[in-house]
Amino acid sequence: MADSANILVLYYSATGNVAQMAHALADGASGLGAHVRVRRVVEIAPTTAVASNPKWQKFLDTCQDEYVALTDIEWCDGIALGSPTRFGNPASQLRAFLDTTGGLWAQGSLSRLVGTSFTSASTQHGGLESTILSMNNIFYHWGSVIMPLGYVNSFVHKESGNPYGASLYSTSANSATQTHLQAATLQGARLARITRAISSMSEE
Ligand SMILES: Cc1cc2nc3c(=O)[nH]c(=O)nc-3n(C[C@H](O)[C@H](O)[C@H](O)COP(=O)(O)O)c2cc1C
Repeated sequence: MADSANILVLYYSATGNVAQMAHALADGASGLGAHVRVRRVVEIAPTTAVASNPKWQKFLDTCQDEYVALTDIEWCDGIALGSPTRFGNPASQLRAFLDTTGGLWAQGSLSRLVGTSFTSASTQHGGLESTILSMNNIFYHWGSVIMPLGYVNSFVHKESGNPYGASLYSTSANSATQTHLQAATLQGARLARITRAISSMSEE
């Protein structure tokens, strides 16, 4: 088995919720010895739209995470995609970046990846699962191994509650609770463990 995995946590966030989850997921992966990069996608919304929401503008002005490059995708063995729910779907900002991976897909090099997804919404039944399932669709096309969070232990079963992937729901910005963060950390640890096992196998 490979000693450690390279894990990319790739996200879009407008008001900080998904960003908080991204860092908790990264902590879980690095706690298992993985090399981890946390990267965000570039903002493509018009500046007037961003400026109309002070929380959005503040996040964009203060977030320190580096922007993703295709070389980050080439580097990783496992990837976690995070996006807020936008009408039950992932944000177009994340989609815009993922649509630039066609060249890597054509080379077949994305089939080595293990992929998992996490999200945030303002309501519990406002599209958390549909957003995760939509992000996971890309992994089918890449040929990647899809990793759910799963009901891996009683914490997910009885407290965080979503086997599809770590999910936050709140009407506020930067509002992750310990429960949300713990679910994301668990998902990151699971991603590191499974990626390490999968990346030690060679596909004939
Ligand atoms: C255009 C738009 C669409 C949204 N659609 C949904 C939705 O379908 N369901 C929901 O519960 N929340 C929805 N939300 C709320 C966000 O998903 C929620 O505020 C999320 O926690 C923001 O994450 P962030 O802080 O990482 O940007 C929407 C927000 C915006 C701006």
